[in-house]
Amino acid sequence: MTYFLFVVFVVVISFSFVVLFGAPYLPVMTDSAEQAIDLLDLKEGQTIIDLGSGEGKILRLAAKRNLNVIGYELNPILFLISYLSTRRYGRRVKIVYGNFWSKEIPSADAVFVFLLPKYMEKLDKKISKIKLNHGLKLVSYSFQIPGKKPYLESNNLFFYQYNQSS
Ligand SMILES: C[S@@+](CC[C@H](N)C(=O)[O-])C[C@H]1O[C@@H](n2cnc3c(N)ncnc32)[C@H](O)[C@@H]1O
Repeated sequence: MTYFLFVVFVVVISFSFVVLFGAPYLPVMTDSAEQAIDLLDLKEGQTIIDLGSGEGKILRLAAKRNLNVIGYELNPILFLISYLSTRRYGRRVKIVYGNFWSKEIPSADAVFVFLLPKYMEKLDKKISKIKLNHGLKLVSYSFQIPGKKPYLESNNLFFYQYNQSS
């Protein structure tokens, strides 16, 4: 009984403390995840980052298409699940444990996010600070960046383009 309560406590804490730093866990629908990757139109070997990668759906779908993927996840349980479920893709998938707001995000070809409206402006500033080697594509599921017109919009997916100078 004590062991069971301890496990419940750990699970509750893991899923709840994250809301102090960002969106709670809610997985993107598989169809939308596939569409998001289609929209990004990346070539094999290019890199996509999922900021708040959950149990790793985007990471697995992208790795299956021979893309390199980097996920950032703060919930230790989701980090572990995503880590274990992506081992078969080897070095193609890297998952960083921690708060992505406090990490330096490397240059990549694309970023996927499923956050909350209140974080979208902060996200825009964070993305604008990435030292880009070239342009970067961003797809946000469900939520738009305030004051920024998406380049494309489809089925709740909002596509933005960042250039080296922006
Ligand atoms: C709405 S879920 C999206 C999960 C995944 N990207 C997907 O689409 O299926 C948001 C995820 O971001 C994680 N998260 C929230 N804030 C975070 C932060 N500051 N740093 C790292 N992960 C964070 C949560 O634990 C959760 O797994």
